Amino acid sequence: MGGTLKFGVIGVGVPNQNLGGHGVYNGIGEVHGHFLRETAGAELIACCDLNATNGQAYAAKYDCEFYQDYAQMLARPDLDAVAICTPSGLHGQHAVEAIRAGKHVVVEKPLEITLARVDAILQAVEAEGVRAVVVFPTRYQKSFVAAKQALDDGRFGTPALIQALCRRYRDDVYYQGWRGTWSMDGGGACINQGVHMIDALLYLMDDIEAVQARYDTLGHDRNLCEVEDTAVAILQVRRGTLGVIEATTCAYNDFGDRIDIHGMKGSLSFAGSKLVDWQMRDEEFTFNPADYEPERHEEFHGHRLLYREVVPYLRDGAPCRCAVASGRKAIALIEAIYQSARHGGMEVRPEL
Ligand SMILES: NC(=O)c1ccc[n+]([C@@H]2O[C@H](COP(=O)([O-])OP(=O)(O)OC[C@H]3O[C@@H](n4cnc5c(N)ncnc54)[C@H](O)[C@@H]3O)[C@@H](O)[C@H]2O)c1
Repeated sequence: MGGTLKFGVIGVGVPNQNLGGHGVYNGIGEVHGHFLRETAGAELIACCDLNATNGQAYAAKYDCEFYQDYAQMLARPDLDAVAICTPSGLHGQHAVEAIRAGKHVVVEKPLEITLARVDAILQAVEAEGVRAVVVFPTRYQKSFVAAKQALDDGRFGTPALIQALCRRYRDDVYYQGWRGTWSMDGGGACINQGVHMIDALLYLMDDIEAVQARYDTLGHDRNLCEVEDTAVAILQVRRGTLGVIEATTCAYNDFGDRIDIHGMKGSLSFAGSKLVDWQMRDEEFTFNPADYEPERHEEFHGHRLLYREVVPYLRDGAPCRCAVASGRKAIALIEAIYQSARHGGMEVRPEL
């Protein structure tokens, strides 16, 4: 028990990106560096990126050693854990190699871009006896914790309707690199942006039995964005609930994410990770939004909360709601959505 866990980051991120009207973004590797620095029991000792200029700048900022070749970083015996922040289609390769080198891993969402590659990560974790985590920060927000507890306690009974909506805006510039490619992004609005709400929905209700979906590329240059920028899916939940998933990157000028749960005993509604309404029919219950506000209003606050839980998990095996196997469900559902959409909306049963 105890001791400091020494981390490395693969994929420091591209600085000063403009994601189409969203201000400046420096890549998710930067977010990991920031929160690793402030998390008790964690120390960032190494970083790796193909881009030496960006990697060296990051190493100087976070006072860690830079490697251009991740194999050299993984060879360090004092390295305990690796945060995988590379493009989604490289997560499996980087995670499996880190695991085989005996390191714990923290893998950014989506865990990988296909179920087969997700399973390869899970098998490597099992074989090497290390611990691994998937990054789904929404699960840590106070609002989601309260909603999940209420659903698990049966306070909503069986909801009639569930909805997960991701209405974001990205311009063509956003799709000029690895994003918007089947090989590296694994898809578009569903697997890159929508995966946050899809995972959050599955975290609240995971017994989805069947899906029927359509997708298209409607707002972007298909030479840049070869994947779907808009998708809709109908869900059949085992317990009887019906549901809808919508994901788009064509919603000018960003209408954000929503999750709604509606039933005869009660309803609740999220805008992003903020609870905006919660009504109960038979209980003496007054919804006070302030009770569900995060302790800090900061972008990527969920990563802070995640690392607070992840470090004791990796080090000592303490409980963790983002243990890696839980990242499989979102990919199973997204794979089913894509399969259905490719076959004209036929019903597909996800392997959840
Ligand atoms: N959880 C979240 O909120 C969140 C937000 C944004 C991105 N992400 C995920 O994080 C991942 C990275 O996204 P991003 O926006 O930071 O992308 P990015 O393009 O800004 O950064 C990716 C980095 O990986 C580096 N890289 C690529 N191949 C490499 C290799 N073989 N070895 C070492 N470095 C390599 C690139 O040079 C780049 O610096 C994606 O999977 C994305 O889905 C998660």
